[in-house]
Amino acid sequence: MAASTHIFQAPKGMRDFFPEDMAVRRHLEQAWRSASIRHGFAEINGPTFEHLDLYTIKSGEGIISELFSFQRSGGDTDYALRPEFTPTLARMATAKGRSLPIPTKWFAIPDLFRAERPQKGRLREHRQWNVDILGVVGPEADAEVIAVAVAALRGLGLGPADIRVRISHRGAAASMLADLGVANDRMSDAFNLIDRREKLPPEVFAEQAAELGLDETDVTRLGEMICTRIPAVQSPTTIADRHGLPADSVNELETLSTELDRRGLLPFCDWDLGIVRGLAYYTGTVWEIHDAAGTFRALAGGGRYDHLVELFGGPSIPACGFGMGDVVLGLLLADRGLIGGDEMLLARPDVFVLSSGIDEAEAMLIPLSTALRDIGLHVRHTWKASRNIGKQFKEASNCHARLAVVLGDEVGDGAVVVKDLDAGAQFDVPLRDLSTWITRRLAGGASPA
Ligand code: HAM
Repeated sequence: MAASTHIFQAPKGMRDFFPEDMAVRRHLEQAWRSASIRHGFAEINGPTFEHLDLYTIKSGEGIISELFSFQRSGGDTDYALRPEFTPTLARMATAKGRSLPIPTKWFAIPDLFRAERPQKGRLREHRQWNVDILGVVGPEADAEVIAVAVAALRGLGLGPADIRVRISHRGAAASMLADLGVANDRMSDAFNLIDRREKLPPEVFAEQAAELGLDETDVTRLGEMICTRIPAVQSPTTIADRHGLPADSVNELETLSTELDRRGLLPFCDWDLGIVRGLAYYTGTVWEIHDAAGTFRALAGGGRYDHLVELFGGPSIPACGFGMGDVVLGLLLADRGLIGGDEMLLARPDVFVLSSGIDEAEAMLIPLSTALRDIGLHVRHTWKASRNIGKQFKEASNCHARLAVVLGDEVGDGAVVVKDLDAGAQFDVPLRDLSTWITRRLAGGASPA
């Protein structure tokens, strides 16, 4: 049969990960995992697909229209690839029921699938770090999850001049929308519209606002409201006074302000009435992290969802958390020059073993590499036929090896030359001492002369 000339490509909006891309992914995940663990969160995961209903119940129209749903061949049960992790987490909490420890602090790093129109910062598959606290009703939990998000971003080199945590409250937004005349049963649609406003041309926005009962003056007032943003070092009452926000939402934001302050986070945060979040289950504080210049889409989003576990049949457990995707974060870090050097990203070999090509060296190349790998070292050697030492040194330095072990003429006498490629220093080392010598050198200890 003739070979097919068809060239396959990854499906639209999906990504291939070459080694350098995997290195970036690992770099982000390390920062996420480290921040989660330092704050006392335990890692969980769930299935890649769930029953379709799990998402149609309470995630909201935005997510439902982006589902990849399917049935097993010959089956009639509807499934969907997970577009977000929160419903899975709520289902898992429900399964634990009353045995769920209070508080429960969980994190997860799932791959998620959304049939969005692929564009800068939005793909059809992304990896999303989720951090959630269940069982704590007060704003100290909201502050704690914000602290975890900021800790990871700081660990990646970003500061308050790069990222802003924009915080609002659904209760405050709902009260302002109600003032404008939005009916209670259309509130979720109104949140959805505000959340999507940057994707819509102004005339479409006005048209959809009119469907919610807003006239031209109301749309102008709505525009003013959603543009209101002040640094969180100022009290949230500054905004509350201007917009007549309800006392209970403002009290929550004030307590949150104190909790953020205790964690040194206020310089990273803004109060921003334009943040309402598109997902239907949020009930109180809502927030997103954006790059400070507003060049990219949101890096992260989250908030309080106090009724979701109960809605799934579990006990009444308050909850809050966030999701942070790898796509926009990767773009922002690249923009700031904080990723890209393969020295930082690709795993550096501890040792590169070189052979001069003499019989004794050739006989030792693989057994020595194996022995060093067996004691836990990352070891490489050339795969080329040439035994030109200069070329092998070039290979060693191209992959940023720390040490080069040269199997040369002295091998027969039980000795090798070791070059510390970082320090540029060279040593004669007896073969019998080699592993101890290397381990001490790599640990920064003094090398035997
Ligand atoms: P979300 O705002 O839909 O929230 O997503 C959170 C983050 O995931 C976004 O800010 C963005 O960085 C990333 N993200 C979302 N969709 C895409 C996409 N199509 N391509 C690339 N990145 C994307 C949630 O999913 C909530 N379940 C988060 C949460 C957890 N709330 C409470 N706990």
